[in-house]
Amino acid sequence: MNSRTIAAKLGSKLNIPSLPEVVQRLNTMIDRGDARMSEVGSVLALDPPFAAKALRVANSAYYALQVPVSSIEHAASILGMRSLKSMAMQALVLDLFRNLEAIPGFQPRRVWNRAVVASRLAVDLPRNRLGGISSEEVQLCGLLHDIGEFVMFDHFGETYVRLREQVEATGDDLVTVERDELGTSHTEVGRLVAMRWSLPKSVVRVAEHHHDLDGVAAKDPLVAHVAYCDAILDALSCGRITDPDRSWLPDGPRKLLDYRPSELDPVLRRARELWAAPH
Ligand SMILES: [Fe+2]
Ligand SMILES: [Fe+2]
Repeated sequence: MNSRTIAAKLGSKLNIPSLPEVVQRLNTMIDRGDARMSEVGSVLALDPPFAAKALRVANSAYYALQVPVSSIEHAASILGMRSLKSMAMQALVLDLFRNLEAIPGFQPRRVWNRAVVASRLAVDLPRNRLGGISSEEVQLCGLLHDIGEFVMFDHFGETYVRLREQVEATGDDLVTVERDELGTSHTEVGRLVAMRWSLPKSVVRVAEHHHDLDGVAAKDPLVAHVAYCDAILDALSCGRITDPDRSWLPDGPRKLLDYRPSELDPVLRRARELWAAPH
């Protein structure tokens, strides 16, 4: 039985949350391309707690708006419809994430911070090697690349917290340890979640392959781009970001994308600021 079949079997047992109706309707409306802000406002009004979360995201340090946003219409007019979609997805992830806070040893800020900073880095890194993908889609790829981890934390609880700590201490390959000890990995589960939510194929690909550094991430520029963001996050969390030789960058994505120091330096500077700021 290959790992995809195991993941599919396990997938039926995992509690993969369904996409809330309000997010489904919002996505369809925005994808149609002719949505009016009043329409978006009335869809969100059907789910006030969700609308409140979306506003909290709009007012977070992440968007760093000059003027506080008090209504969804206002947010859409400032950020644009497509950012509103990313914002709704971010509110959804925040929602999933709240369920995990009770797990003993779980470090909520760390996991959430990584998702938010990855989504920002994905937009900040040069995108001219990615073949015309929109900044919103790249942002979504960054935000959701580890969505499988959220489901793993939810399903395996403290066992997964301990496994993550062990991997961090030993430097072993996360996906290999997950497969050996739990029979599946956050990348396989991430693929299932992205498909269940009918997310763009790009998100499914990134969720499944972002750790495949010598394989897909060495050939597919978008996957390499997100693997690059992940490497930056790892270097930030272990304090190696300022290493002058940048040996923490994985070879495959680095060679494929070939970002120049002049492109990378400002992104790394901003990444350090973002990492330190609360989200
Ligand atoms: Fe990952
Ligand atoms: Fe990651």
